[in-house]
Amino acid sequence: MKLFIDTANLDAIREGVKYYPLIGVTTNPTLLSREGGDPVETLKAIRAIIGPDRELHVQVTETEADKMIEEAQAIVALLGKNTFIKVPVGEVGLQVTAALAELGIGVTETAIFTAGQAMLAARAGASYVAPYVNRLDNILADGVGVVSDIAQTFAVHGIGTEVLAASFKSPEQVIRVALAGGHTATLPPDVLKG
Ligand code: G3P
Repeated sequence: MKLFIDTANLDAIREGVKYYPLIGVTTNPTLLSREGGDPVETLKAIRAIIGPDRELHVQVTETEADKMIEEAQAIVALLGKNTFIKVPVGEVGLQVTAALAELGIGVTETAIFTAGQAMLAARAGASYVAPYVNRLDNILADGVGVVSDIAQTFAVHGIGTEVLAASFKSPEQVIRVALAGGHTATLPPDVLKG
């Protein structure tokens, strides 16, 4: 299983890449706002810490397709290669995913709650799909089960899109996701250390 750290905290990212075998950093608007300051400057600082070869995943904040596509292009221009655009799944999200894939921009389809959403995102051209494990558990659904369904569906159909499992509250959830076939996971700093 490949691992990301799920934070915009610069100290946590410095420590993360120093000690742990991380392939990148995932952020979202909530994580960026939690750090205060200008989110653009925070993202530039993250890229400087992790270097050009690790992945940096950044979510668009616009809600209309054309603006989301423009914002995605601006993010990639700012942060360089190995920058992936997080797009929330939904009708507009799928439309934007297809457009970005056509432009050669990597997409992480986020806020995935079902295997059906994951299949649609994969077929739209997403590089990753991000099921929210703990949030599924919180609504009495089965986060690990959804990861398993997605991983099996992709394997059966030879789909190259990877499962980037997100929303973790414990290391136990991470190992269960790994056993269920999750390809990658993004962990908050405390879960990574745990
Ligand atoms: O980055 C998105 C995902 O990790 C959300 O996590 O903790 O807000 O459910 P959480």
